[in-house]
Amino acid sequence: MIITKLKADGFKNLKSIAIDPHPRLNIFFGDNAQGKTNLIEAVWLCSGVRSFRNTKDKDMIDIGGEVMSIELAFKDREREQIITYRMARPYVKDKSCTVNGVKVKTPSKLFGGFSCVIFTPEDLELSKGSPEKRRQFIDLSAAQIKHSYKSVSEKYEQILEQRNMLLKNIAFGRSQKEELEVWDMQLANMGAYMTLLRYNYSKKLGEYASKLYSELSGGREELRLSYSSTVFDRIEGRLDYRGDLAEEYLECLRKMRDEDIRLGYTGKGVHRDELMSFIGELPARDFASQGQHRSIALVLKLAQANILLDETDESPVFLLDDVLSELDPSRQEFILSKIDNMQVFITCCDDSIPKNKTGKMYHISGGRIVR
Ligand SMILES: Nc1ncnc2c1ncn2[C@@H]1O[C@H](COP(=O)(O)OP(=O)(O)OP(=O)(O)O)[C@@H](O)[C@H]1O
Ligand SMILES: [Mg+2]
Repeated sequence: MIITKLKADGFKNLKSIAIDPHPRLNIFFGDNAQGKTNLIEAVWLCSGVRSFRNTKDKDMIDIGGEVMSIELAFKDREREQIITYRMARPYVKDKSCTVNGVKVKTPSKLFGGFSCVIFTPEDLELSKGSPEKRRQFIDLSAAQIKHSYKSVSEKYEQILEQRNMLLKNIAFGRSQKEELEVWDMQLANMGAYMTLLRYNYSKKLGEYASKLYSELSGGREELRLSYSSTVFDRIEGRLDYRGDLAEEYLECLRKMRDEDIRLGYTGKGVHRDELMSFIGELPARDFASQGQHRSIALVLKLAQANILLDETDESPVFLLDDVLSELDPSRQEFILSKIDNMQVFITCCDDSIPKNKTGKMYHISGGRIVR
């Protein structure tokens, strides 16, 4: 899919942005703090996912302004659609979003329409940082191809929070241990569903990522991914999350109850699982070099985009925020060559503009496109 029109006004420092992006390459360059990442964030919000920068609602509107509006038209194989996203002070919680003129209840309902893959300098730490980042990565990527996954994983988080609260209440004698059963049953069902989906997604991810990594390293190194569950010893070959799998999950939660009450939180479950990566035999998290971490992050993002293309027959829009300057020339060339069949938005400073490429260039200054 491609973005055919983008407008943004009053979103952070952006003013009167109105562009018809190139179907392939779009480069946004300019000095620091001019609005490049804000523009990428505006595009991202239209995919129905919370800001990758965790921007607070009130900070999405220009500090000196009252309203913000984003409009994004995109075209997939079937048709062209228009998304709008608006907010106004003082009721910043009431976001108003439409798809083709029809109001949707919340921004999260935009999910599943316009889809993009983002790669930022922070992502370069994907295989090094906390397991939570990898879980978030896999959850979002899996949800992009199985839309119902998103609401299940969000519900899981809510129920988990309630269970943890109950654990504390039991420890203080304010609640009974038996009350855990209803929460555990729900967690077991959702957790088994999520495990199976994540496991299957990791397998696909691993296939693509290994191939890309081998290519990137000139065949000198091998990358392998593995989904590590805190609940199950074996997931391979299991086809249905209901029945055995949910039963086993529930059994695990039951067994953990006393310990969980003592700890005050739920020690096992999908919220503690890990997407492990290995280079050769060594776990990347502990052993990989800086360059290897970069390569892993890069191939994971490329794999994510490839899987989306495979499974939905639509390429996502690829957003590269400020990341090219962090990569050496061979990695830069590698990533650009692998996404040249997609629409790409790149932000960079003046001195790191990729050369000899066809597309459009936009100079951003003071929140405006100046040429
Ligand atoms: N709510 C807001 N109202 C007005 N300005 C804001 C708001 N939120 C952020 N900004 C400003 O937007 C400016 C541009 O931010 P942005 O992150 O897009 O810069 P950038 O061009 O990506 O810079 P860099 O090259 O350093 O990454 C910053 O100066 C920031 O202070
Ligand atoms: Mg930036």
